[in-house]
Amino acid sequence: MKAVLCSRNPHKARELERLLPGWTIESLERDDYPPETGATYYENAALKAAFGREHEQGWVLAEDSGIEVAALGGRPGVLSARYAPEGAPAVAKLLGELEGVAERGARYVSELVLLSPEGRELRGTGKLEGRIAYEPAGTEGFGYDPIFVPDGEERTVAELGDRWKAENSHRARAARALVRALPPR
Ligand code: IMP
Repeated sequence: MKAVLCSRNPHKARELERLLPGWTIESLERDDYPPETGATYYENAALKAAFGREHEQGWVLAEDSGIEVAALGGRPGVLSARYAPEGAPAVAKLLGELEGVAERGARYVSELVLLSPEGRELRGTGKLEGRIAYEPAGTEGFGYDPIFVPDGEERTVAELGDRWKAENSHRARAARALVRALPPR
């Protein structure tokens, strides 16, 4: 089975391919994706999927995700991708906003939308609770992973690594929910 992922983020295609056994995931490489104007992760994922449907006849997969920081009232949330450019600047900005803040609770959220060739919509949601570290650590993963410590762990997601992520991440949980929603093959 092959699905086209409506994302320019190569990390997501790699993660999702590991998470959806039996599926090949190819990124839809376009530079004219619509702006993510939805009020929810689901709305943004559905927007990306609808855009993908305009270019692909087969299975179309879309994902929207974000990080919600309790001390920031849930920000950046659905606006995570626009909080700062990918990588170090976003991490530095978030650490700066939390300087001197003891309440470090946060969660990752992932929402997946899969469109069948016939136009049926399947969904999967996943969350990962944790806290924001005081300084970055680790080299795997992407985005906020060097400063996100999951509940029950002492290390960041970037230290725990891709294998840990494939089992436990918000995206892994969303993918498992999506697989449960798939019709039997
Ligand atoms: P989008 O879903 O492509 O719109 O972007 C989601 C934003 O949340 C990006 O800026 C990512 O950095 C962040 N994000 C989502 N999932 C993860 C993750 O697994 N690790 C680190 N950052 C993530």
